[in-house]
Amino acid sequence: MNRSEFAPLGFGIGLRRCHYTRILDEWPTVDWFEATSENFMVDGGRPLQVLEGVRSHYPIVMHGVSLSIGSTDPLNLVYLKQLAATTRRFEPAWVSDHLCWTGVGGHNLHDLLPLPYTEEVVRHVASRIREVQEILERTILIENVSSYMEFTCSCLSEWEFLSAVADEADCAILLDINNIFVNAFNHDFDPIRYIDSVPAERVVQFHLAGHSDHGTYLLDTHDHPIRPEVWSLYEHAVCRFGQIPTLIEWDDNIPEFEVLAATADQARSRCEKILHRKGSNCR
Ligand SMILES: [Fe+2]
Repeated sequence: MNRSEFAPLGFGIGLRRCHYTRILDEWPTVDWFEATSENFMVDGGRPLQVLEGVRSHYPIVMHGVSLSIGSTDPLNLVYLKQLAATTRRFEPAWVSDHLCWTGVGGHNLHDLLPLPYTEEVVRHVASRIREVQEILERTILIENVSSYMEFTCSCLSEWEFLSAVADEADCAILLDINNIFVNAFNHDFDPIRYIDSVPAERVVQFHLAGHSDHGTYLLDTHDHPIRPEVWSLYEHAVCRFGQIPTLIEWDDNIPEFEVLAATADQARSRCEKILHRKGSNCR
């Protein structure tokens, strides 16, 4: 991958339907928007008009949920053709999806399911990512997902698996800081070790989100403010990776637009504070 492919976008917000009117009427100050790819892979109608309007004022990235890169089903070429056409039309700064599978045998389970962390799965997923990158004619980002179970056959840690897939596929990484925190609690590992082990040259974007605490496990619900522990982990990630384009993910109980914008600004000020300190006592 070529790092110069990826613009330093700043601090963005997910493009959500409840904010369409506010954005299109007032063009609020936001660095960039992340659009859910599947919402705009349609032939016409309001979604495309909205995205055209947004794109005329802001950089966008496209974030998919249906690539199912880890499945053993053949890659969905119809889906990929639609995605390629959508990216040609809207020219997002980049395209991302998740390191997971979402279905098998032609059935879509509409969930981001974890993979076994083995060398065989690394090779399987990496070869599929390479194929996708050839079809889309661009380097894609893969995102670490939250999980609530582990496979007994796994012989790599999650961060070893993510790093190996990215290296073998020669793709970029979207590092979801909240997902690392959730999984560290659920699977009892050190989130700092995770962040310190991922190849820095491949990390192109961060996600920040809120989760729910169910006592014995954390659930990645994207319906709460970002927890203080996740902000702390974000600050550690900024120390390690520098200023990386950061997206506030909020998908349920979505607050007023101003709350999201203020959260993006909070990420910006925390990042700037850390970078200002860096060199003295950052690590
Ligand atoms: Fe995420």
